[in-house]
Amino acid sequence: MCKLSKQYGPVFSIQMGTQKMVVLTGYETVKEALVNQADAFAERAFIPIFEEFMKGYGVIFSHGENWRVMRRFALSTLRDYGMGKRTIEDRIVEECGFLIKQFESHEGKPFENTAIMNGAVSNIIVSILLGKRFEYNDSTFIRLLKLVNENIRLAGSPSIQLYNMFPALGFLFGARKTILNNRDELYAFIQATFIESLKELDANDQRNLIDSFLIRQQEEKTQTNGFFHNENLQSLVGNLFAAGTETTSTTLRWGLLLMMKYPEIQSKVQEEIARVIGSAPTTRELISSRCCALIAAKIKTQYEEKPHRILQSTFWTLMENL
Ligand code: HEM
Repeated sequence: MCKLSKQYGPVFSIQMGTQKMVVLTGYETVKEALVNQADAFAERAFIPIFEEFMKGYGVIFSHGENWRVMRRFALSTLRDYGMGKRTIEDRIVEECGFLIKQFESHEGKPFENTAIMNGAVSNIIVSILLGKRFEYNDSTFIRLLKLVNENIRLAGSPSIQLYNMFPALGFLFGARKTILNNRDELYAFIQATFIESLKELDANDQRNLIDSFLIRQQEEKTQTNGFFHNENLQSLVGNLFAAGTETTSTTLRWGLLLMMKYPEIQSKVQEEIARVIGSAPTTRELISSRCCALIAAKIKTQYEEKPHRILQSTFWTLMENL
């Protein structure tokens, strides 16, 4: 896309099957659209696989008033349960303890970290959604993570790209069927969980996001066209579970990879932590560290934009100037 923008300018369009896509490239153009003209660009595209998957419910791929109401509820409830506050920091530090124990159990030998990184990160959003944490070897947890990861992988696959271009041919694509089956299994788990929550629901003692949603549902019962129905609950919980797991654990795994690849930078980071913050920094102190912040920003842009280039990138030159 960046190459094409050199030839056609920062705004150009591509015809993908029956849909025309407009591509914006470069910081200034994207900022102009998403920040300066935020209202005009607030809508989500209608992408066939996500329309079929979400049916317009939840937050990530919903539209109009449904999106606004679910987004407002999600933001305020995530804050109520500690997101962006010290309460969630304590939960993260506690989860780090479990994660470090797992790492240590391998006694320095190589191991596959995907599943436990996924589990550790997921447990943070799970604590807000369900008010609990799962053990990393819990078979239900492993299954839920597999469903989400497989769906994220398939959603970007060539077969689903083709389906998005020619949705009428959907029946030909096995990946589409897998995505929908995975969704049904995930939603069945969420449904069973909130039916369980209903048994001990208490407006004066809301334990997690599901409780808060169910309380809103009860308050809304008299309205005919409310938004706090079970379909939105399943989709919202599914959205937050997926969005709060894969993104962050992939970012952290890129971080581990880069630290392994560039041990010199790893030493610099460790040195800075020891010098500026001391031997037992809090997460908040790490976040305010210049070196850590720069690395976090770098990891994010590297993997989102061009992961295949990451190991030959200018990462080292940039870090040299720390
Ligand atoms: C490194 C971590 C993360 C990355 C790279 C990331 C990336 C993104 C991106 C690119 C979007 C689309 C923004 C847009 O189109 O306007 C998005 C939306 C979203 N993310 Fe994340 N995200 C991360 C972590 C999280 C976490 C931890 C949560 C949950 C607690 C989360 C929940 C959401 C939600 C709910 C949306 C949809 C917002 C809306 O449509 O209004 N994300 N994320």
